[in-house]
Amino acid sequence: MSYQVRKVFCRRFQYVNVLMHLHWCAELINLMVKAERMFQHVIIEKTEDGSDTLFVPELNEHYHSVHGATTESNHVFIDAGLMPILEEKKHIRILEIGFGTGLNALLTILRTNGSHLIHYTGIELYPLPQEVIRQLDFALPPEEKNVWEQLHTVEWNEYAAITDNFHLKKWQTDVTKCLVFTEQYDLIYFDAFAPDIQPAMWTPELFESLFNAMNDGGILTTYCAKGQVRRNMQQAGFTTERLPGPPGKREMLRARKCVNVLMC
Ligand SMILES: C[S@@+](CC[C@H](N)C(=O)[O-])C[C@H]1O[C@@H](n2cnc3c(N)ncnc32)[C@H](O)[C@@H]1O
Repeated sequence: MSYQVRKVFCRRFQYVNVLMHLHWCAELINLMVKAERMFQHVIIEKTEDGSDTLFVPELNEHYHSVHGATTESNHVFIDAGLMPILEEKKHIRILEIGFGTGLNALLTILRTNGSHLIHYTGIELYPLPQEVIRQLDFALPPEEKNVWEQLHTVEWNEYAAITDNFHLKKWQTDVTKCLVFTEQYDLIYFDAFAPDIQPAMWTPELFESLFNAMNDGGILTTYCAKGQVRRNMQQAGFTTERLPGPPGKREMLRARKCVNVLMC
């Protein structure tokens, strides 16, 4: 091939390459915008215990159990996860996968009531619009309204003191993209949409990265009790147990990181 021909060929190749790259970027942005719209189109619904939840029509999925949003969160995350950790530590680091409405953070504040120092990181890819947050009703005592507002008005991606003993970092990121965790957590509230809706949130790889980001003896709880999810957790290194589920669910899962802990 002559020098001239090669030069033209290389230029064409570069041009095609740039075009392909631009096309790929446009596709990606399009997908992200679509996903954002999808998660922002939510409908507020009353659940059986009187607390609200959100329904996402495009996914045909709720944020919480229709048998009681607050009842489910208290059962799965607070009673099965937070309570045993409170007995073991005074300073607790909590990670939530799927911060959503912030209900689990709020229930954590209410249950601890200042008794422990808590650093709470809530990962969320699609923050809810403020007008949705404002309309949600979790039947809060009036004195807690201020705390609720603060959960949703503090800056993203940095720690903020909600109370003297409760520090919140809302982290806007995609949990399925190999995250680098800079903290070690004692407790993980795993509150993703169901595995048949979002399988990428329930992989052995994701559980492994969470396992590595936990202190020994740490607990991960989730409402899900699927056999495949349990096996994925075990593959990541967790010791798992099935517990009775909240109303409407026979079972749920609790996983523990037991490397050197004798009491696990
Ligand atoms: C079952 S809802 C969470 C409910 C939430 N804990 C609450 O009490 O409102 C699942 C959450 O995961 C979020 N989510 C979905 N895909 C995500 C991703 N790839 N990374 C981080 N969060 C994601 C959704 O936007 C949604 O808020």
